[in-house]
Amino acid sequence: MKFFVDTADIADIREMADTGLLDGVTTNPSLIAKSGRDFMEVTKEICDIVDGPVSAEVVALDHDTMMKEAETLRKIADNVCIKVPLTIDGLKTCKKLTGDGTQVNVTLCFSANQSLLAAKAGATFVSPFVGRHDDNGFDGMELIADIRQIYNNYNFGTEILVASVRNPVHVLKSALIGADVATMPPAVIKGLFKHILTDKGIEGFVADWAKTGQSIPTQ
Ligand code: E4P
Repeated sequence: MKFFVDTADIADIREMADTGLLDGVTTNPSLIAKSGRDFMEVTKEICDIVDGPVSAEVVALDHDTMMKEAETLRKIADNVCIKVPLTIDGLKTCKKLTGDGTQVNVTLCFSANQSLLAAKAGATFVSPFVGRHDDNGFDGMELIADIRQIYNNYNFGTEILVASVRNPVHVLKSALIGADVATMPPAVIKGLFKHILTDKGIEGFVADWAKTGQSIPTQ
């Protein structure tokens, strides 16, 4: 499963990229607002740090303006992935852009039928929002399992990009179901490394090693 980070914070993106485990980045208008940065400028900076797809979202609601915005955004860098909402206009835009070879992430997906539409529109990625789904009394992971089954049934190439991830359990279940990508806030990625027994184990080894009075030559 690929790991994307869901943020427009440059320091966080650099830290995650330095692990060598980062495959891409997703942003949205709320994350851009939170960064306080100029959209075009920060997106360019992110694309220079990460080789994989960097999702940049259109803000227009009609197809013609979405196409014009996408034209501007895709000039930022080759790895820009245009993010469009799951609406009729969004999917028209998706179909056109992917037909031209541009990567498209269809966002705000909340049902398996919507994911079917995104796949038929040729989306590179579909983003089901599991956290927001859970918040509203639905089962986000059940949605991911349904989408996986539908995409397998018809051999759709659209990648399932699990979004609105809130905790490591969402990540674990996504991997068990066979989702293609999880986009996570930096804190969730960091949480994946943590285990109390790892910390305790290190503590024990460090203490016992000190008793030996030895050191491993580093040069
Ligand atoms: C995905 O691309 C979205 O930017 C994101 O995952 C939304 O997450 P939220 O529900 O925590 O805002």
